[in-house]
Amino acid sequence: MNRPVIAPSILAADFANLQSEIEMLNKSEADWIHVDVMDGVFVPNISFGLPVVAAIHRHAAKPLDVHLMIQQPERYLEEFKKAGAASISIHYEACDHLHRNIQHIKDLGCKAGVAINPHTHVSYLEDVIEELDFVCLMSVNPGYGGQKFIKNTYKKIEQLKELITDAGTSTLIEIDGGVSTANAKKLIKAGADVLVAGSFVFSSPSPPDTISELKHVI
Ligand code: DX5
Ligand code: ZN
Repeated sequence: MNRPVIAPSILAADFANLQSEIEMLNKSEADWIHVDVMDGVFVPNISFGLPVVAAIHRHAAKPLDVHLMIQQPERYLEEFKKAGAASISIHYEACDHLHRNIQHIKDLGCKAGVAINPHTHVSYLEDVIEELDFVCLMSVNPGYGGQKFIKNTYKKIEQLKELITDAGTSTLIEIDGGVSTANAKKLIKAGADVLVAGSFVFSSPSPPDTISELKHVI
C-alpha cells in the first residue's frame, strides 16, 4: 500500500499570516497544497479568488491543488492556471459540458480532476473516467471547513475503485472533508490515494507533526 498524498487545505490556515503558514507547509511532509475557491453561488460560502491564489503560489514550494467550488468554472480555468494551479478540480454539479472542461484543463497543462458532492453517485463519472487524473470525493457538503465526515464515503471509494479498475486507468482518489487520523487508515485501506485535511491540521498544536502523522498513518 502506497503512502497517501497529503494535501493540507489552506482554507483552515490563518489568512492574516498566509506567508508563514505556507512556509510551514513547505517544510512539512505535505505533498500538495489544497486551495478551496468558493463563489457564494455554487456553495453558500465565499473564500478567496485569483489574487490570493497567485499570492499563495509566490511562496509555495509544493504544487497547488485548486478545488473550484464555482458555477461554470470554464470561465476561469485559464486564469487559475496563470495564478499557479498545478491541478484543478471542477464540480460535476457545476458544469454543463464536463468533458469539454476536463479537456480544457488538460490542454492548459494542469492535472484534471472532477469533484462530486456527497449525493452524486460515482457512476456519473463512467464516461469521463479515462480522462481524469483524479476524482475528488466530497466527504462533507462543500462550502465549509470543520464539518463532520460522511461515512457513506467508504462505499463510494469502493465503487470508484471498481470504476477505475474496469477502465484500466491510474486515476487517483482524493478525499475531501472531515479527514483526520481517526479515519485516514480506513480511507486508505478502502482505496483513497490523496487525503485533504484542513481543520484537523491547522487547529492541531503542531501542524507539521499532524501532517506527518497523516502521512505515516499506515
Ligand atoms: C470544503 C472544502 C474542504 C475543506 C476541508 O468545502 O472543499 O477542502 O477545506 O476542511 P476540513 O478538513 O476541515 O473538513
Ligand atoms: Zn476542497
